[in-house]
Amino acid sequence: MKTTEQKIAIVTGANGGIGKNYTRMMIEDGFRVVMAVRNEKAAQRVKDELVQSHPQANIDILKVDMGDLSSIEAFSDVIKGTYSRIDVLAHNAGVYFFDNERRESADGIELNLAVHFVGPYALTMHLLPLLKETIGSRVITMSSTEHHGAQVSLNDLQMEEGFENKGNVVAYARSKWAALALSHAMKRQFENEGLGVSILAAHPGVSITGIQHKGNPTLMQRAAIWIFGKTLAASPSQAAKPMYMASTVGKSGEFYGPTGFKEMKGEAGIVQPDIATFNESTGQNLLSQVAELIDVKCNVAAEF
Ligand SMILES: NC(=O)c1ccc[n+]([C@@H]2O[C@H](COP(=O)([O-])OP(=O)(O)OC[C@H]3O[C@@H](n4cnc5c(N)ncnc54)[C@H](OP(=O)(O)O)[C@@H]3O)[C@@H](O)[C@H]2O)c1
Repeated sequence: MKTTEQKIAIVTGANGGIGKNYTRMMIEDGFRVVMAVRNEKAAQRVKDELVQSHPQANIDILKVDMGDLSSIEAFSDVIKGTYSRIDVLAHNAGVYFFDNERRESADGIELNLAVHFVGPYALTMHLLPLLKETIGSRVITMSSTEHHGAQVSLNDLQMEEGFENKGNVVAYARSKWAALALSHAMKRQFENEGLGVSILAAHPGVSITGIQHKGNPTLMQRAAIWIFGKTLAASPSQAAKPMYMASTVGKSGEFYGPTGFKEMKGEAGIVQPDIATFNESTGQNLLSQVAELIDVKCNVAAEF
């Protein structure tokens, strides 16, 4: 039988850092949370810890690789067969590499773009039937302060030219810029179609989580991360607040982040994205490119 009554939030990359803290906030708010993860063991440890402190919590763990379109399709099929509503779909999963090596996803898409831009769009499109049926549903994109000034090149979205000179730090920032511009484009499109699904975005500021350590930092970078963690960075719990606010009180089109110095930490509230992310023709171009990319392996664009 499908689950019906309790509000449901799906959060990708919930097995650590910001996703773990976001999961806690959502269960405290009465949501049933689906932890959408690639590391089920780590997710089970987080679930055990949360259930211990919140015995009434309903938490499910489901495997998905956000860099693999067939995994996203299989995950979506399970969701559609198990739940009859999705109140919040939070695209939190993310990767960060400090080096200049160009990596590709299982589908041959530049990895930053695959995990932050293509995968979330594919997941949203697969789950759109359920999102449309759920009154007040929200889709949240996780961006970054690094998106500012990191406009993508529409002719070379996957940075096939000169990656070794720009590196993953630029690729990351551009993918977060693209994700934000795409969320604005989807908001316009969903409104025009009268779909009733709100599209929002958030960024966490700066917080020292697993993400910096998994990305091959040099010794110097490790030292800088350590110093940052002791000084300017927010706690992962504080950093989860903007996405939590977008998920619970936000309205379509809003962008949440910390409101303190340079948006690195501080009280969560509405912040301003890079103005260029609102450009309508750029947004339209990104929608066409991402639809083409996901059609390589699945045909969800047809459902829209
Ligand atoms: N921390 C910051 O300062 C900061 C700043 C700006 C934006 N953000 C964004 O905030 C989000 C959360 O990051 P975090 O700081 O909490 O880092 P984190 O602790 O490393 O969490 C990232 C999560 O994403 C998961 N993930 C990565 N690739 C995935 C894939 N292909 N499929 C499924 N899950 C995948 C990771 O899983 P594994 O455990 O399996 O690796 C992990 O659970 C990310 O989108 C990040 O870009 C963070």
